Amino acid sequence: MTLRLKQGAAATRVLGIGSTQPDRVVTNDDLSKIMDTNDQWIRDRVGIIERRFADKDELLVDMAVKAGTSALADAGVQPSEVDTVIVPNCTMPSPIPNAAAQVADRLGIKRAGAFDLNAACAGFCYALGVASDLIRAGSSGKVLVIGAEKLTDWVDPVDRANAIIFADGAGAAVVGPAEEPGIGPVAWGSAGDLVDTIYTRDHRYLTQEGQSVFRWATTQIAPIALKALELAGLQPSDVDVLVPHQANLRIVDAIAKKLRVNGAREDMVVADDIKYSGNTSSASIPMALDHMRAKGSVKAGDIVLAIGFGAGLSYAGQAFICP
Ligand SMILES: CC(C)(COP(=O)(O)OP(=O)(O)OC[C@H]1O[C@@H](n2cnc3c(N)ncnc32)[C@H](O)[C@@H]1OP(=O)(O)O)[C@@H](O)C(=O)NCCC(=O)NCCS
Repeated sequence: MTLRLKQGAAATRVLGIGSTQPDRVVTNDDLSKIMDTNDQWIRDRVGIIERRFADKDELLVDMAVKAGTSALADAGVQPSEVDTVIVPNCTMPSPIPNAAAQVADRLGIKRAGAFDLNAACAGFCYALGVASDLIRAGSSGKVLVIGAEKLTDWVDPVDRANAIIFADGAGAAVVGPAEEPGIGPVAWGSAGDLVDTIYTRDHRYLTQEGQSVFRWATTQIAPIALKALELAGLQPSDVDVLVPHQANLRIVDAIAKKLRVNGAREDMVVADDIKYSGNTSSASIPMALDHMRAKGSVKAGDIVLAIGFGAGLSYAGQAFICP
């Protein structure tokens, strides 16, 4: 007796992207009024000029719905065409219920397979890999991936080590079948031995060992990005757009520098969305790409290399073609 398997698509691609941010802009000067910090220190050490904080009544799920709506419109895909919704996030108000089922319902995606995925700031790239594989395996037709975070719920508002870094927002991608590969294999992994470098416990505020995380990210992440290129059969010189998770501009620059040492082009566009968005964890990669596309610094058909990393510690990256 053998079981029947479904036949999946030969390949997948990103059909559309979208994002949203809360209206409230918070500058470094605003923060310096409530904690011992200053604009110059934040710009020099982190690269952030301003960020967006959600109001009390604007929830992670609300932002996810907005980003999902804009990605569906960008892709020209109707909610009825989507059968799976994945919401990578690490900042729901409580573990139950998840975000994805509510988001699917509010978007009019009936009876969707819906689950959250927690790989912290690596969440979007993990979820993009899962979405692509679901379609290739025949488990899903089209998948909506929405990285959404309300980090301000989990950061002490006067903790100068973290409140200056983290922010709120959501970014989404619609993934669908394709004849030619538009999303490369994911390179992912974890370093659970470093779990104590970023954590929240017992619903308390986020704590991190900034310097340990900084060292790890600046030394361990570029090789994963190179691995993702190798898996996709690409060279560093093929990359048009590098979108690292927007954790710290100095980390972004260090990753870009290592890729260039390995052959990436000088004219490779490097995401610096952290300047105006802060660190929005699993939302940061699709949000950065959406903002870059809106500004015209990237275009449809560009080869994007995305690389996420963060608490866990977890990391994941892949190459894909910009919609
Ligand atoms: C958090 C981070 C910005 C701190 O920068 P840093 O250079 O390591 O700063 P340090 O903690 O060593 O502090 C350096 C000095 O600045 C001071 N300082 C710390 N935070 C400050 C702030 N917000 N404003 C002003 N001064 C500050 C410290 O007191 C210290 O002063 P001292 O030299 O007089 O003792 C940096 O470590 C970082 O970005 N790490 C990675 C974190 C990250 O990206 N996490 C998310 C991963 S997804």
